[in-house]
Formats: sequence, structure tokens, C-alpha cells
Amino acid sequence: MPLVTTTEMFKKSMKEKFAIGAFNVNNMEIIQGIVDAAKKENSPVILQASSGAIKYARFGYLLKMVEAAVEETNIPIALHLDHGADFETCKQCIDAGFTSVMIDGSKYSFEENIALTKKVVEYAHSKDVVVEAELGKLAGIEDDVNVSDKDAAYTDPDQAAEFVEKTRCDSLAIAIGTSHGAYKFKGEAQLRFDILAKIKEKIPNTPIVLHGASSVIPELVDTCNKYGGNIPGAKGVPNEILKEASMSGVSKINVDTDLRLAMTAEIRKALAESPEAFDPRKYLTPARDKITEIVEYKIKNVFCSSNKA
Ligand code: G3H
Ligand code: 13P
Ligand code: ZN
Repeated sequence: MPLVTTTEMFKKSMKEKFAIGAFNVNNMEIIQGIVDAAKKENSPVILQASSGAIKYARFGYLLKMVEAAVEETNIPIALHLDHGADFETCKQCIDAGFTSVMIDGSKYSFEENIALTKKVVEYAHSKDVVVEAELGKLAGIEDDVNVSDKDAAYTDPDQAAEFVEKTRCDSLAIAIGTSHGAYKFKGEAQLRFDILAKIKEKIPNTPIVLHGASSVIPELVDTCNKYGGNIPGAKGVPNEILKEASMSGVSKINVDTDLRLAMTAEIRKALAESPEAFDPRKYLTPARDKITEIVEYKIKNVFCSSNKA
């Protein structure tokens, strides 16, 4: 099956109340680890690359590796640009064969975000590519920010409806309390499901995207720290909360940090346990296997997308 857009997978996710995992890819082992898991679970999957990932892996290599993964599977796979910063970056990915792009105009004013998103949507749709946009501010919702500032950072449901109507974006990333990276909450982990419900009420047919949704798996953090790492106090979104999101109208759940932790934990462990090893395959094989294990777990038990291919 060739690369697909997210249209059909999102339709099914909204109808049957499950989420599609969108996993960040940076190298061959990560791509293989994710796709092996999706294959085992017969689940649709989104492989997403940030500009940093494209720069690291190099455009041509990344495309060819994804092409190779797609050739050896029968599950629906979408290739998505994560956090596209401007029109040119989105255009480059669209022209190269990505089936989905994100234009992240969340740092701009509401009007500027609309104008930029609209421009990308017009170009993308002319090439049958779909567009994810973002409204609200993900980072910096800290405990010491006062309540009105916090509310300003969350996505406003009325604005979401106006934004989707004006831009015609295909999916919308919202801010309901998550943030990127390994330190998401100082106190208790909480998401604003009340805001999600209002957004779903206003735009029931628009697939909703949750960024910053790694659970920051404690076992992986412990392994990193045990074998020489220094990641104290890391905290993510608990699986029960992500499962609730999957069943409450979130169609795409973004995961990068957990993959980074999985790879780092296994490499640290393998090198510490076998100091004589210097064949990269000796530590990259367990790293790849760990990625498969955690992606499979998420697909099966948290996103509930097994057998939805
Ligand atoms: O949301 C950001 C992703 O984790 C990608 O991070 O830009 O360092 O590749 P990156
Ligand atoms: P995490 O840092 O929680 O993995 O989020 C990744 C993400 O949102 C990529 O766009
Ligand atoms: Zn993100």
C-alpha cells in the first residue's frame, strides 16, 4: 500500500473513538521500530518528521527509509511534517511526497495564524495533501502562571470554530494542558477535558490533535538514570489520561520524548553491561526492540487502534 493521507484514518478514529499514534522519526532504527509495532498490531500509523529530523537524517535518506518501510507493509502509513514553521518548509515537504503537513502558526496572532494556515491549505489541497494547524499555546503553562494567563494559553473553543471555518485546515492541534519534552507537570498531571468537550461541540467533524503527549515512561527514565543519565523529576501524561483522550475525540496523539527515552535507556544499558562491545548493532538492536515494545503497548492499550488498519 502506498503512503496515505490521514483523511480515512481520522474518519474512522472519530467514528469508532480511538486515536492514531503519530511518532517522530529521526533515523532508521526508529522508523523500523515504529513500523514493526504498527504491523504487529495491524494499526494505522503516522510517521512524522520535524525540520530538525529532516536536517539530521537528510531529506533524501528520510524519504527513502520511509518508502522502504511502506513497501514492506500493508498497513496505512502517513508521512507528516511536524511543526512546519513557514510556507516554504511545508511546500518543500508537499512537493517531495509527504502526505500531510503541519503549519504551526501558534506563535503568531490569531489573524496572522489564519492567513499563514490558509496559504498552506490552498497549496496543500491543490496537491491532495492534508494540513494540520495549531491554535493555542502549548508550552509555558506553568504552575506559577496566574489563572487568566493560563486560560489565554488554552485553545478557545469559539476561536477554534472560526479558525477552522476560515482556514479549512484538515485537523487542529489544541492546547489543553500538555507540553513538549520530559517535564510536563510540576504537580498532578491534568488535562482540560472540559475545553476538549467544548471544542468537539463546536467543531465535531474536525480531527483533534494532541501534541506533547508522551507519558515519559518511568521505567525508561529509571533505566537512563541507573546507567549514568541525569533526568531527575521527569513527568509525562499518564496512560489513563491519554486513553480517555483517545476515547473523547482526540484523533492524533504525538509521541517523541518516549522514543528518545527508549533509545537512550537501551543504549546506556547495553554499553554499561557490555563495556567491551563496540559494534553499534549490539546496542542499536535492543534500542530498536524497545521502541517496538513501547509503541506496541501504546497502540494496543492506550490509543486503542489495534486492528483498525
Ligand atoms: O514537538 C517537537 C518534537 O519533539 C520534535 O523535536 O524539533 O527536536 O526534532 P525536534
Ligand atoms: P512529546 O515531547 O511529549 O513526545 O511530544 C512530541 C510532539 O508533540 C511532537 O510534535
Ligand atoms: Zn509537537
